Amino acid sequence: MVLFKAATAALAFLATSVSAVEIVVHSKGGNKTSDIPYGLMHEDINNAGDGGIYAELIRNRAFRGSSRYPVSLAYWASINGAALSLKNLSTPLSSALPSSMNVAVNSTKSKSIGFANAGFWGMDVRKQKYTGSFYVRGSYEGFFTASLQSAITNNTLGSVKIESKSKKDEWVQHEFNLIPTKDATNSNNTFAITFDAAGVKEGSLDFNLISLFPPTYKNRENGLRPDIAEAFAALNPKFLRFPGGNALEGPDLANPWKWNETIGPLKDRPGRPGVWGYQTSDGLGLVEYLNWCDDMELEPILAIWSGLALDGAYINETDLGPWVEDALNEIEFVRGDSSTPYGKLRASLGYPEPWKLKYVEVGNEDWLAGAPSGYQSYMDYRFNAFNTAIKEKYPDIQVIASPSVFDNMTIPAPAAGDYHPYRQPNDYYAEFHKFDHLTSDNLTLVGEFASVHPNGGIDWAGGLHPFPWWIGGVGEAIFMISTERNGDRIIGSTYAPILRNMNRWQWSACMIEFEADVKKTTLSTSYHVFKLISTNPITRNLPTTPGTNTSSLFFVAGRSEDGKGVFKIANYNTTDHEPVPVSLRFEGLEKGAKAELTLLTSSDGPFGYNDPAKGNNVVVMTTKTLSLSGNGTFEFEMPELSVAVLETGAGGYKRRGGYKERRHPAVLRREDYMS
Ligand SMILES: *[C@@H]1O[C@H](CO)[C@@H](O)[C@H](O)[C@H]1NC(C)=O
Ligand SMILES: *[C@@H]1O[C@H](CO)[C@@H](O)[C@H](O)[C@H]1NC(C)=O
Ligand SMILES: *[C@@H]1O[C@H](CO)[C@@H](O)[C@H](O)[C@H]1NC(C)=O
Ligand SMILES: *[C@@H]1O[C@H](CO)[C@@H](O)[C@H](O)[C@H]1NC(C)=O
Ligand SMILES: *[C@@H]1O[C@H](CO)[C@@H](O)[C@H](O)[C@H]1NC(C)=O
Ligand SMILES: *[C@@H]1O[C@H](CO)[C@@H](O)[C@H](O)[C@H]1NC(C)=O
Ligand SMILES: *[C@@H]1O[C@H](CO)[C@@H](O)[C@H](O)[C@H]1NC(C)=O
Ligand SMILES: *[C@@H]1O[C@H](CO)[C@@H](O)[C@H](O)[C@H]1NC(C)=O
Ligand SMILES: *[C@@H]1O[C@H](CO)[C@@H](O)[C@H](O)[C@H]1NC(C)=O
Ligand SMILES: *[C@@H]1O[C@H](CO)[C@@H](O)[C@H](O)[C@H]1NC(C)=O
Ligand SMILES: *[C@@H]1O[C@H](CO)[C@@H](O)[C@H](O)[C@H]1NC(C)=O
Ligand SMILES: *[C@@H]1O[C@H](CO)[C@@H](O)[C@H](O)[C@H]1NC(C)=O
Repeated sequence: MVLFKAATAALAFLATSVSAVEIVVHSKGGNKTSDIPYGLMHEDINNAGDGGIYAELIRNRAFRGSSRYPVSLAYWASINGAALSLKNLSTPLSSALPSSMNVAVNSTKSKSIGFANAGFWGMDVRKQKYTGSFYVRGSYEGFFTASLQSAITNNTLGSVKIESKSKKDEWVQHEFNLIPTKDATNSNNTFAITFDAAGVKEGSLDFNLISLFPPTYKNRENGLRPDIAEAFAALNPKFLRFPGGNALEGPDLANPWKWNETIGPLKDRPGRPGVWGYQTSDGLGLVEYLNWCDDMELEPILAIWSGLALDGAYINETDLGPWVEDALNEIEFVRGDSSTPYGKLRASLGYPEPWKLKYVEVGNEDWLAGAPSGYQSYMDYRFNAFNTAIKEKYPDIQVIASPSVFDNMTIPAPAAGDYHPYRQPNDYYAEFHKFDHLTSDNLTLVGEFASVHPNGGIDWAGGLHPFPWWIGGVGEAIFMISTERNGDRIIGSTYAPILRNMNRWQWSACMIEFEADVKKTTLSTSYHVFKLISTNPITRNLPTTPGTNTSSLFFVAGRSEDGKGVFKIANYNTTDHEPVPVSLRFEGLEKGAKAELTLLTSSDGPFGYNDPAKGNNVVVMTTKTLSLSGNGTFEFEMPELSVAVLETGAGGYKRRGGYKERRHPAVLRREDYMS
């Protein structure tokens, strides 16, 4: 993981030549803001799920394909001449997993034969406990050996012997733990299962659902990759929007994200053709998403399928009924009492307690695929059918339409909208006041946002910026401040997409880049900006004078949950690139008060970015404790293209929920907020 390099250069505080911009934060007025201002959005794009945050190490573990992505033996290799072939047995492991791998003894001369898996572009192997499982069918007397080894040298990094329980015509699961004896020097490693050819009674064995997990986030079975999950948790997120995104819509009407095919034992999950160029396992299914919410204390924002596929096809009004029913069933599965049919199904999977579910979004970007007729169908009947049915059964649910009021839809209050501004940084600057005119009947979620195009008007056909870059992050900061100024009407905001596997991706501007090697996980410039702003939450915003931005400065003020003054500010392009001095007064602040200022700048200009290949970090973080001037103001300077958060009351205080050690706000972790 690329860490902050603490800035050594001291800040030049207070330039005397230019008169300071005076800002007053009033102590009265203002509004209570949303309690879920920032969150996460996840869907399986860029191998963000399989091969990403879903910690499974084995690729193509269940030989599952589809008409779009045919079933194959890809990523599997034979060891010592074992003959590998795909078989559709008359007795498959399950109806969800019809194909399996047959491993035939090609020559009795080789003793130890088997197969190896290359993982998702390698595997992270360290001295830690791996948890594995495989199903085998066929008669074998002896031991299986499960091992991890270097793909370059073939040196074994760790192995374990598993006594065979296999039977002639039956699928038998074998489980094991494996602790390597050494850390691999790189992630080019494979996982293998081998066995003694002489012990195979009928010439071959069949294998399926071969799985291997490293330790997971909060030790969840079938859980999340810890380094990525921890980077998420460090953002102090409050909600998770899932399962998409376009991934929810599916490539065609036959293949939407079907919630009921993503639950239960892994052997009962057929997976599906994803919309981003690969088959997905659905190992990260509905229950796993909800566990993720539990483990990070996130409010689920569950998107239900609204009858539109990404190819633009949509369900006719007369045929929509069963899908509305299906969505109600899904909601009942999540939050219904275990006496209800779907609550009972949930309980049968080991979750008797209902989850909390307050936010349900109807579809994803229904204004886009299939427009204009697809969008018209949403405005004419699709949204209404779901909205009415959900409100009738669950009046407390906040329904969210997938378009926003900025997408030409009149959204019937109390339903909210979802706005997805993918922009050039200059657009965020120009649109700073966009939310100021929303009424309390125009509740809006920002379910996706990111600077994706450089300034200068590159259109969608021109490609995205190769990585998040500094001025893009400053634009995002201006945008985030614009949402917080309206925090009583903006439900919350999330960057998207968050994850990009550097070995395979379709979308380049993502908050975190990663590959199999956890040492290469890269936190982008946008990650650092988001983190600074999201880890200093305002629970009530306060009026300021001037009440809006001034020239290049954009700001919002408010109070934190424990009553401290919080001021967030971004500086865009300045006159002659000069820094702007700021003189900030909090009404009612006592003499002798102090504040902590955290400032982010770039060491590499507007276009600098954090490059996973270099492991660099262009974000410079400077912190400074400020004392009130004789005038009762905090005086500081905002360099051109900088983002800062100032918090009053620095020094040894305790946060509500009782965290002991005062750490820098930018490195506050979620645990700091928990009692
Ligand atoms: C509080 O909300 C009202 C109405 O939404 C708005 O006019 C006002 O500007 C808000 N005040 C602050 C400080 O955000
Ligand atoms: C099986 O053995 C034959 C003869 O030794 C060889 O030609 C063939 O390549 C082997 N098959 C595999 C899959 O190794
Ligand atoms: C085997 O099953 C797969 C689905 O896993 C299917 O796509 C394929 O057509 C089947 N092959 C045969 C020969 O039946
Ligand atoms: C792993 O090493 C093998 C053998 O040197 C090489 O062919 C392969 O490309 C490497 N794979 C990765 C993901 O680096
Ligand atoms: C590693 O094992 C593979 C498969 O058995 C073999 O093809 C390869 O030559 C071996 N590499 C080395 C460096 O021994
Ligand atoms: C999932 O629900 C759909 C629609 O209600 C139904 O047709 C399908 O059989 C269900 N699948 C499973 C695996 O229960
Ligand atoms: C919707 O209805 C039209 C007209 O009857 C029909 O042509 C079309 O196939 C239907 N669409 C779907 C997805 O069923
Ligand atoms: C905001 O809500 C009001 C009341 O429902 C509605 O009249 C207005 O059109 C909405 N604003 C926009 C921009 O849609
Ligand atoms: C909304 O209307 C404007 C003006 O007609 C148009 O440019 C824009 O594309 C529309 N947006 C959507 C999402 O349909
Ligand atoms: C605030 O920023 C906007 C750009 O969003 C700019 O047009 C406007 O002049 C600024 N307002 C002031 C008072 O500087
Ligand atoms: C700000 O400066 C950048 C170059 O650093 C330029 O691309 C952009 O257009 C400028 N934006 C404005 C609003 O002046
Ligand atoms: C106090 O504020 C006044 C008026 O803004 C200014 O002229 C003066 O320089 C300030 N003094 C200090 C010590 O900051």
